[in-house]
Amino acid sequence: MKKFQAVRGMRDLLPEEAGLWRSIESRVQQQMHAFGYGEIRLPLLESTELFVRSVGDVTDLVKKEMYTFTDRNEDSLTLRPEGTAGCLRAAIENGLVVNQTARLWYSGPMFRHERPQKGRYRQFEQIGAEVIGEAGPDIDAELLELCWSIWQAFDLEEVLSLELNSLGTPAARQAYQQALQGYLQQYIAELDQASRDCLPVNPMRILDSKVPATRELLAEAPVLTDFLDQESADHFAGLCRLLDGLHIPYVINPRIVRGLDYYTKTVFEWTTTKLGAQNAICSGGRYDGLSELLGGPAVPAIGFALGMDRLALMVSLLKKQPPSGVADVYLIPLSEELRPQALQLARKLRLELTFERIVCHTGHAKIKSAMKKADRSGAAVVLLLGEAEAFAGGITMKLLRQDVEQKLVPQSEIVAEVKAAMRRNHSG
Ligand code: HAM
Repeated sequence: MKKFQAVRGMRDLLPEEAGLWRSIESRVQQQMHAFGYGEIRLPLLESTELFVRSVGDVTDLVKKEMYTFTDRNEDSLTLRPEGTAGCLRAAIENGLVVNQTARLWYSGPMFRHERPQKGRYRQFEQIGAEVIGEAGPDIDAELLELCWSIWQAFDLEEVLSLELNSLGTPAARQAYQQALQGYLQQYIAELDQASRDCLPVNPMRILDSKVPATRELLAEAPVLTDFLDQESADHFAGLCRLLDGLHIPYVINPRIVRGLDYYTKTVFEWTTTKLGAQNAICSGGRYDGLSELLGGPAVPAIGFALGMDRLALMVSLLKKQPPSGVADVYLIPLSEELRPQALQLARKLRLELTFERIVCHTGHAKIKSAMKKADRSGAAVVLLLGEAEAFAGGITMKLLRQDVEQKLVPQSEIVAEVKAAMRRNHSG
């Protein structure tokens, strides 16, 4: 009998990995919520024309990588290769782009017929955010800060670097493309075949080439920065100033051109050296002209998508996964009379420590068995509330996984002390 296997480039996530994904997703979603982004759920199938028009008919994505088929009504449909086009289509169709700013996020599978390797799959997941209706660099900075706060939630800021560029207006880009074509035309004989094919239709794609000889030629090529229009240059300078103010580090990389045609002005990639060739964990940029191209009103927009498969790889590679077990903080009231006070404290801790799981001991409060349960829960911090603590207006804090003496912490300092203990625990 023939045994079936998953389609090449498509994976099963077994319970352990799925559990990791779920906890990563919930942390990312928490950040989306904290920044005021509303979730939008979008179809997996869209009309093929949507992607041809938005991503561009000369891009690799549209020419070579789409899963396209004709349905029973002879309509050409495509499994979405990315989320921006569908999200903007939905925003226009549902009137979210008129006289308002739409802050949206989505997640789910995308499909691209690429050559599979570690970190690159044919079905992969993205979590994306799009802001429609804002033209200024302040919103670019807000989106990058949202990314930054996601990295912070996983303690990944140190291993990711933000590469920024501006592609300018379509007119500036066209002038640049002509200059680049003119320059590379002189060396056509030395170019690799793929770059030669790109030269007449999409010369900026060549800037991404990994072929050493081509890369050498590119070292002397004209750079887009010199062709930027004044408005785009001011926008970019404004964004850099805001990022400096937020202390978000970045490098300006004029070679970031992105593989999709809809971008204008700001583009960016968050890259890492930890994942080999598939080094972009999150990417995006502005697409101010796309709404009109899709028959909508002239509204500016910007967004990003992070690759869940790559984020999950990073998190497990660097052992940054959320702690196992069921609790981070285990609170034990040492008598029934103290239970209401303990429940109030648990509520306060949950409100103030959004990332930590707070569990209050239930049932009889024999200290020995309660401590055993605390240990089994996986908690790093145990808080003991007894008569003496209640009388002194504090709580006893015990750190289960660190070699530190237990101590009495005053009520007013509990949140700060638990926070500090959890931070030490995550970094240790
Ligand atoms: P993209 O750069 O094509 O942009 O994809 C975004 C992210 O998805 C990449 O940085 C990478 O982490 C992940 N990714 C892409 N292809 C694969 C793959 N084959 N396997 C695993 N992960 C992959 C976009 O899709 C744009 N829609 C981003 C955007 C949103 N721009 C504006 N708004």
